[in-house]
Formats: sequence, C-alpha cells, structure tokens
Amino acid sequence: DAPADLGVRPPVVTIMGHVDHGKTTLLDAIRKTKVTDTEAGGITQHIGAYQVEENGKKVTFLDTPGHAAFTTMRARGAQVTDITILVVAADDGVMPQTVEALNHAKAAEVPIIVAVNKMDKENANPDRVMQELTEHQLVPEAWGGETIFVNVSAVKGEGIDELLEMILLVSEVEEFKANPDKRAQGTVVEAELDKGRGPVATLLVQNGTMNVGDPIVVGNTFGRIRAMVNDLGRRVKTAGPSTPVEITGLSDVPQAGDQFLVFEDEKKARQVGEGRQARAKEAERKQSSKVSLDDLFN
Ligand code: GTP
Ligand code: NA
Ligand code: MG
Repeated sequence: DAPADLGVRPPVVTIMGHVDHGKTTLLDAIRKTKVTDTEAGGITQHIGAYQVEENGKKVTFLDTPGHAAFTTMRARGAQVTDITILVVAADDGVMPQTVEALNHAKAAEVPIIVAVNKMDKENANPDRVMQELTEHQLVPEAWGGETIFVNVSAVKGEGIDELLEMILLVSEVEEFKANPDKRAQGTVVEAELDKGRGPVATLLVQNGTMNVGDPIVVGNTFGRIRAMVNDLGRRVKTAGPSTPVEITGLSDVPQAGDQFLVFEDEKKARQVGEGRQARAKEAERKQSSKVSLDDLFN
C-alpha cells in the first residue's frame, strides 16, 4: 500500500507496574474522568479495553496485560502496545515488578511514560522514584533525560489530564499509523464462553476496518461477525484502527494474544480456520504423547 493510504490512528496504551501500585485504580480514574457519556456509563459492560478522548484526540487503553499476558503476546509476535505507562507508587518506590515491567517495555521498544502514583500519601517521595528509575536508565526530563514523569493520584483523580496530554505528545512524535481501507487485522485482548451468546471475544483492530457480517479467522477458530459492541456497551457496525470491540459469531473461544484476520468470503475463512484448528489439534496430540513418553522414563 502507498504510504498515502496511511492515516493517523489513536495510540494503544497499557499500564504496567508492581502489585498494588495502583494500575487498576488509575485505569478507573482515567475512564471516570474522561467518559462523559452518562447514558452509556450506566451499563457496566465489561470490556477489557476502552477509549477516551482528550482535546478531540482518542487514546485506547488496554486493561488486561499483566506481565504474563504481555510476555505471551510478545512471544507470539503480537505487538499491541504503542506506549507503556509505568505506574510506581510514590510511597513504595521501585519494586521488583517495576523493573520487570520496564524491561519488558524496553525489550519491545515501546516508549515509557512514568506515572508516579499515590502522591496524596503523606510519605510520598517522587524524588526517590526519579532517582531509582534513573539507575535503570529512565532519566527524567527534569534531570536532562528523555523520560516523561507525571505525578498522579489515582484515588483523587489528580494529574489525569496531564498524563493524557503526555500520551498525546508522545503519540505526535511517534505518529502511529494504519490503513483504514484494508481488511481488518489485529489481536484478541480477551475471550470467554458466554452462556447466552456463545464465544465472545474482545478484539483490538490494529489495521483496517472491521464490519458486522465479515468472515473472520481468529487464532484457531473462525466465523462470521454476528454483532459488535463497543466499550460503552453500544452496538456498532464498524470498527477502525485502534478500536476495541467485543464480537460474537465465532465457532469457538480464541485465546488472548491470538491474531485475527478478516476474509473476503466465508468459505475461505472456514477453510483457513479449519486448517488451523486441525494443525493445533495435531500439535496438541504430539505434545501430550511426548509428555506420556517422558513420564515413562521418569
Ligand atoms: P494489582 O492488579 O493487584 O497488581 O494492583 P494494582 O496495581 O491494580 O493496584 P490497585 O489499583 O488495585 O490499588 C492497590 C491499592 O492502592 C488499593 O487499595 C487502592 O485504593 C490504592 N491506591 C491506588 N491508587 C492510589 C492513590 O493514588 N492514592 C492512594 N492513597 N491509594 C491508592
Ligand atoms: Na491490587
Ligand atoms: Mg489491578
């Protein structure tokens, strides 16, 4: 495709950091501050990803990736994150999982913005956080480095606007692009079997545009998109780049981190999907026979 086809797309942001440093609270605070759609706000539709708007620009947040999921996705070649927010509690400072998280982000070459959280606490010490992260080559701009640090209190909802502005600043520099005119492709954020609706998957569209009725292959399963629901719990007919949507219509439940691709005709999608299913089953069978062989010798 000619570069002229590429349009700017919203950044996809994940929040990482040590246990209890406030990742979930921060995600909730961002959503609460920014999702003003009260009508939709009443519907507590859980979808593991959401979008907010700041100064007319959208930002997509992924709710799921704990470190394990992040690593699995990366191992499978699914790079979903454009920007990592590294949350560090100002009272606790840098902890083992903080270092793990920043190493993951560095390995994936994803820009890091540091959110120094729990600034409302009496013993908050943001200088210590800056010092400790400098030892890990995350040098704050204030000290002549290149890493953006934002002080926040997720509980009080303070610093959220500044954090979003910094995300947009990084996005402008990086220029995340996609082609909305292609057949959609992307990654599974989460999936489950719903009693009433059957397999339900939250997909992040990374390139192209997805439409209701599209034949689709998702990991080792396939189907035709029956319905799409956005992060506000509303039914939508299309989803463009960086948009998270929940879909139904798959024949089976895919896994988080699986890739998906829309096909032009259903027959082809079925063929590819069934081929992948068969190969997955064969690999599983070989794996289990290998295990039983190992068992024999132990
Ligand atoms: P895990 O998902 O278990 O790793 O934790 P987390 O990083 O998502 O932390 P979570 O949001 O669950 O917050 C942990 C605790 O810290 C909760 O009791 C929160 O209320 C508290 N907390 C989070 N943000 C703040 C903050 O800005 N100030 C204060 N005082 N407490 C906070
Ligand atoms: Na927690
Ligand atoms: Mg959490």
